[in-house]
Amino acid sequence: MKVVLKIGGSLIQDESGNIILERFAEYAKTILKLRKENMDIPAIILGGGKIARKYIEAARKLGAPESLCDEIGIRATQLNAQLMVGALDREAYPTIPETLQEVAGAVATGKIVVVGGLQPGQSTNAVAALVAERIKADILINVTDVDGVYTKDPKKDPNAKKIDKITIKEIQEIISEKGFSAGKYELFDPVALKILERSKIPAWIISGEDPQNILKVVAGENIGTRIVY
Ligand code: UTP
Repeated sequence: MKVVLKIGGSLIQDESGNIILERFAEYAKTILKLRKENMDIPAIILGGGKIARKYIEAARKLGAPESLCDEIGIRATQLNAQLMVGALDREAYPTIPETLQEVAGAVATGKIVVVGGLQPGQSTNAVAALVAERIKADILINVTDVDGVYTKDPKKDPNAKKIDKITIKEIQEIISEKGFSAGKYELFDPVALKILERSKIPAWIISGEDPQNILKVVAGENIGTRIVY
């Protein structure tokens, strides 16, 4: 089974932007172990986290256009990606691809390819969907700081309910009130949704608190939220 993994920025940095080193180490260890056990994880996508948002906010305050804010966010995601390369050591492809074509070429080497952002106007969830589509992944697992998709923002609304299975249309309805600007692509952005929809990539949103959750999804356990088509 070919698995593409998206690791949310909020998992690897705390709310002040400090790097959670143990998380990087735990994820690297789990990924290397799964690989030894013959699970194919050709690509991992890293989000930008608080550091990306800090830089984006600073750029916006200085009057930068949104596309420049995005470019700055992309740099932050690539920094996280490079850290993961360091943690995965020899098993990782040594450089961070900057286009989808470069991702495909790097994956062909058989190393684990770590990717950050690619182009303005989208989030790393879109990158994850594009990479999964491009390399014909069997499954996309989005590990994040919530244990699935909720009817409302679970961090703000105590009445929010977790959804076990969700369609793209239902995700669109949940996020329709929110706008999309640099650093604010919560849940899924339009590009990510479009790619998932057209290629019908089996996708899960799960809690990344415990890296072992990845194994649970692959084993068919009913955790997180599954996107259905
Ligand atoms: P993300 O928004 O994907 O990272 O990228 P995050 O905030 O850590 O979100 P999660 O927790 O992983 O979901 C950071 C910013 O980088 C820019 C956007 O501005 C985005 O908000 N970006 C990222 C792009 O412009 N293009 C990309 O392909 C990826």
